[in-house]
Amino acid sequence: MRTLARKVAGSEPEEPRPESRSSAPRGAKAAAAWPTPSALSYPAGPPEFVSGSGCHLADAAGGRYLDGCAGTFNIGLGYGHPMVTEAVVRVLATGLPHVSSSFDHRQVTAAAQALVDVAPGAIEYCHFKGSTGGSTAVEQAMRHAWAATGKRSFVAFRDSHHGQTIATTGLSGMPFRRNRLPVAPLPVTHVDAPDCFRCRWGKTPDSCGLECIGAIERALDAAPTGEDDVAAFVGEPILGAGGGVTPPKPWWGELKSRLDARGVLLIFDEVQTFGRTGSFFAAGYYGVDPDMIAVSKGISGIGIPGAAALLMTENLRVLGTAERSLTSAGSVLACAAVEATIQVMRGPGFFENARRSGEVLADRLERMAREFERVGTVRGFGLMTGLEMVRSGSDRAPDAELAHRVVDECMKNGLLLRTSHYGRGGFVKVRPPLVIGEDEAHDLCDRLQRALVTALDS
Ligand SMILES: Cc1ncc(COP(=O)(O)O)c(C=O)c1O
Repeated sequence: MRTLARKVAGSEPEEPRPESRSSAPRGAKAAAAWPTPSALSYPAGPPEFVSGSGCHLADAAGGRYLDGCAGTFNIGLGYGHPMVTEAVVRVLATGLPHVSSSFDHRQVTAAAQALVDVAPGAIEYCHFKGSTGGSTAVEQAMRHAWAATGKRSFVAFRDSHHGQTIATTGLSGMPFRRNRLPVAPLPVTHVDAPDCFRCRWGKTPDSCGLECIGAIERALDAAPTGEDDVAAFVGEPILGAGGGVTPPKPWWGELKSRLDARGVLLIFDEVQTFGRTGSFFAAGYYGVDPDMIAVSKGISGIGIPGAAALLMTENLRVLGTAERSLTSAGSVLACAAVEATIQVMRGPGFFENARRSGEVLADRLERMAREFERVGTVRGFGLMTGLEMVRSGSDRAPDAELAHRVVDECMKNGLLLRTSHYGRGGFVKVRPPLVIGEDEAHDLCDRLQRALVTALDS
């Protein structure tokens, strides 16, 4: 067990649908334009989910759905996993779901230790953001990077999503998401992700000279705040909202060595990838040791919010309490869920099952890509995968409209999947709970295949 420094402190939602599908009565104060008081965030109307078990959801009308996207990619252990549920209920029974972060609590320390134990490389410190989400975990890592390096700028991918706080909105790519928000003062340079299916430099694996890493080096040279002033490169190891772009195996190691040579930190945003690539962290899949890792979503298994920044060295403990405390950072409830989740994932056969189901998905999705010309490629790895829909086999342009039709048809087949780029992308995400079995993986693919046939016919 590695030494743990004491803890210090402590969905990607769908676009709101413009049309109302609700016949629900309005609350007295609901704005006239919206059908329910929550409609700013959530579409109203069926299906109204009322219960979940494993990879399945049930709705109020008796419908049953296979969830191919694990909620918002956060239900890693499936709905209602008994061990995690029990751990959470036990905490509630103590009357202490929360203890002020002015005090230590054995549950918080135990959860931090559990995360540190399974973290890659020299990660030895867990900065909990408790019952918050991925945005605060990433922002916490940014704060540490600023304070540790004294440098001011960041570099991130153009298609990235790192969160919805102002800092992480500025850090994220996808400019349409910050059109009306005053995030411009945040010094970030956005660079292309290594998308080998649509190489921006027109290269193939045979002719590749890692021009994409060269472009990142140029961004490091010329930070918005001045020369040699980049604190960190922040990247999702496999793009989540940005359509599953999956760097080739040696890519992250190569980038890390070039960052090291310049004293620039590497922050992995593993908010979505946690557990999905056959081991706890995608860093392990890529064989790279990031300086910091932000985690959330799947770390608490059943949808209890939980988040943390994992830090590589004690030197990164540079922030004072006034610079990092959050009310819910040391949530005992979240930490109980995290500790139980890690325990389940460390159990016999857990990753072996995920690996086998991932192989079923890979095999079946590859077959779909061969069979259907409009499926351009399969992206991702393991249980972080999906299909890139294109306008034609020769023109590899993404087809967002087709991706939507496929997801809508999946819904009719009782399968929940999602598209990318907040509805603007051509990628159909397949990211089921990590506990999905081989038969369920086949079932998922049967339904997706039926949906593809109908969507392509219509
Ligand atoms: C990779 C990644 N990072 C950060 C976030 C932000 O997490 P949250 O919405 O929990 O704040 C998300 C959310 O989808 C994400 O996918």
